[in-house]
Amino acid sequence: MPNFARRGSSLVALLTVVAIPSVLAQGTTVDEIAKYRAALQDGNPAELWEARGEELWKQKRGPRQTSLEQCDLGLGAGVVKGAYARLPRYFADADRVMDLETRLVWCMVAQQGYTEADAKKSPFGNGNAKKSDIEALVAYITSESRGVPMNVSLAHPKEAAMYRIGEKMFYFRGGPHDFGCVTCHGEDGKRIRLQDLPNLTKLEGAQKAYTTWPAYRVSQGELRTFQWRLYDCFRQQRFPELLYGSDASIALTMFLARNANGAAFDAPAIKR
Ligand code: HEC
Repeated sequence: MPNFARRGSSLVALLTVVAIPSVLAQGTTVDEIAKYRAALQDGNPAELWEARGEELWKQKRGPRQTSLEQCDLGLGAGVVKGAYARLPRYFADADRVMDLETRLVWCMVAQQGYTEADAKKSPFGNGNAKKSDIEALVAYITSESRGVPMNVSLAHPKEAAMYRIGEKMFYFRGGPHDFGCVTCHGEDGKRIRLQDLPNLTKLEGAQKAYTTWPAYRVSQGELRTFQWRLYDCFRQQRFPELLYGSDASIALTMFLARNANGAAFDAPAIKR
């Protein structure tokens, strides 16, 4: 296939076919989607975000004209390799449990001299007109954990507390439809329209879902981070808007990341 746009439209065509369940047995459909994903994986456009992110990481930027190479992602200043597989974690300098995105904002403020509002102003990109630096940085940093087994610790009391809050939130039902995460992600074989809903209460489901984000979304032509994933599920759950980098977002991330422990991280991936 010659270009990404073509890939996107072929995927739409494929999904249209898949929409007629009587024509294709469900097993076959899922197999076909898996094959299609495997084909796309060869040339994942996420690589463009990874390359831009690596440049941004090394560039002297912000009011203080420093690079992020002094940013400590948990394994020491500037160490990127394997760092994501251990996040979220407690950072003593901030006295807070942070996921990657919150930590990046923290480093941009504390080291590069940005205001917090500036550091957070473009968390989710939208085409060439509105590129997100954080999405690119996340693509780069996560790519440096590819193949590394997830190893999130709960040794610090604040880490253990974050996990427990995340667990509570996952099972908490509310809002106009009385939905919780568990409504859509608590059973095997559930679907909304064409989308498989992973069972995040099982080890295999939690591992597969967590280790394949961030992902290049073919349907949006954008690389999306885990903060985006949660933001969008809050919307689907008809909950109030999830604030970027909030403790609520970090708690849910902690719960899902820890439950993925042992599985090899495998992203940036590619999704429909
Ligand atoms: C109303 C149903 C619904 C609710 C409630 C919901 N989600 Fe989702 N979630 C979805 C759908 C649909 C997808 C898949 C979207 C897609 O394929 O594009 C998804 C995908 C995900 C994924 C990525 C799975 C993967 O393999 O890529 C994660 C992680 C996730 N949801 C977490 C949550 C969490 C945490 C909550 C609670 C805050 C939640 N979801 C609430 C519908 C829901």
